Amino acid sequence: MGFWWSFPSETWALISILLSIILLYGYWPYGLFKRLGVPGPKPVPFLGTMLQYRKKFPLSGPLYDAVTTAEDEDWRRIRGVLSPSFTSGRLKEMFGIMKSHSHTLVENLKKTSERGESADIKEFFGPYSLDVVTNTAFGVNIESLNNPNHPFVDNIKKLLDLNVFNPLFLATALFPFVTPLLEQMNISIFPTAVTNFFYTSLQKVKSERLAQAHKRRVDFLQLMIDSQKDSNNLNSKERNKVMTEGLNDHEILSQSLVFIFAGYETSNKTLSFLFYNLASNPETMKKLQEEIDETFPNEAAVDYDMMMNMDYLDAALNESLRLYPVIFRLQRVCKKTVRINSLTIPKNTVIVIPTYTLHRDPEYWTDPDTFNPERFTQENKENIEQYAYMPFGLGPRNCIGMRFALVIIKLAVVEILQRFNISLSEETKVPLELINTGVLAPKHPIKLKFTPRNTPDSAT
Ligand SMILES: *[C@@H]1O[C@H](CO)[C@@H](O)[C@H](O)[C@H]1NC(C)=O
Ligand SMILES: *[C@@H]1O[C@H](CO)[C@@H](O)[C@H](O)[C@H]1NC(C)=O
Ligand SMILES: *[C@@H]1O[C@H](CO)[C@@H](O)[C@H](O)[C@H]1NC(C)=O
Ligand SMILES: *[C@@H]1O[C@H](CO)[C@@H](O)[C@H](O)[C@H]1NC(C)=O
Repeated sequence: MGFWWSFPSETWALISILLSIILLYGYWPYGLFKRLGVPGPKPVPFLGTMLQYRKKFPLSGPLYDAVTTAEDEDWRRIRGVLSPSFTSGRLKEMFGIMKSHSHTLVENLKKTSERGESADIKEFFGPYSLDVVTNTAFGVNIESLNNPNHPFVDNIKKLLDLNVFNPLFLATALFPFVTPLLEQMNISIFPTAVTNFFYTSLQKVKSERLAQAHKRRVDFLQLMIDSQKDSNNLNSKERNKVMTEGLNDHEILSQSLVFIFAGYETSNKTLSFLFYNLASNPETMKKLQEEIDETFPNEAAVDYDMMMNMDYLDAALNESLRLYPVIFRLQRVCKKTVRINSLTIPKNTVIVIPTYTLHRDPEYWTDPDTFNPERFTQENKENIEQYAYMPFGLGPRNCIGMRFALVIIKLAVVEILQRFNISLSEETKVPLELINTGVLAPKHPIKLKFTPRNTPDSAT
């Protein structure tokens, strides 16, 4: 009858040590807040340690060298290579690519509106964002709206389907010590097949580019390739220096994937929220259409500089981002111990900044739940407390793609409002219910009516 009660005493000792470790491991980290004198509820054992170990999240897995996760010198070097990609000059060069996709978007909305149906806007803004982002990041034109089965679309979906409820993700969050083990077993929450697919595509595009070096391209991929190429024409001493500044292939892949990750869902959702706001606030839509018609009369072609100088468009978009900041909380790691008021924050603590809550805090915003673009007009914007508004984060690690996102969103707004009136349909659920899918998202599909402004009988 060899049962557990007949275990030898060594086994009992081991079991009790194990239990103590588990208890210690589960509860110990909460001492931090207590020691700092920060009041708050007692967290659930284990879950509370997730943040403590954030840096070890294998979400970075193969993307450990992406600009969003890299640290210190690596981060500085990568950000340095990427930053020039997001200047107005560069974005202006990519404006042509963006416009070809916004034309497809308008054409598809036309078809739906001709059928007299209300449009489930995610079926339009999702592919638009995806197409612009993949075309500018990977140099691949997938036209996902018309080719939903393109292998690129398929693989990106797989990448986006990863979520925090993935058992592997949970396991590594709760028990970070298994991470090195999983790594050794070549298990990653990024499916190897998907990572390999993108890596192969990237290599293919890259060798095509190198073979046709005379054709000048203007996308992010090309800029990253150029950061490597420049180093080939130099003597070896200089090369060593530049090689440490240019990006290697793995780093290029990581930036491209993160660009898709970070650019696609956020633009898609921001567009959805903005159009919902415009449809539910006809005065804003009308005023915006007036500004658009004044800037680009008779459906004139959209010009980059004129578009970026439209004040009311900027104000309406900012107000929509205030109410619905897609990245609704930010995380930063404290690099050195600081004292703020009476609170000491030790080095390496993860700080969470509740953007959504700040954006609706009545202390900083009058009537915080009302959509009112006037808050951001030239005369009023001075009253905004700078640190109460941060849809793209603030400081040196703010969103590097901010300007890019603003351009593609504004372009879609201008081209659509030139041609359509937007209104809520009977199928729209008001008020909007939100869910947390890692980013802020509407719970139900947003269905809106797009009515052509120049109906055949009104056009002469
Ligand atoms: C775009 O965002 C909507 C939410 O507005 C989401 O439901 C949808 O899945 C996203 N589109 C795609 C193609 O993923
Ligand atoms: C894991 O992958 C690496 C390279 O991708 C390989 O060298 C190694 O042998 C693999 N390990 C196992 C246990 O399969
Ligand atoms: C709108 O937000 C962007 C990005 O946060 C900022 O650069 C711009 O100045 C804001 N515009 C106004 C009118 O506040
Ligand atoms: C579009 O909306 C404007 C007001 O915003 C209105 O004057 C116009 O008649 C509408 N056009 C159509 C075709 O509904």
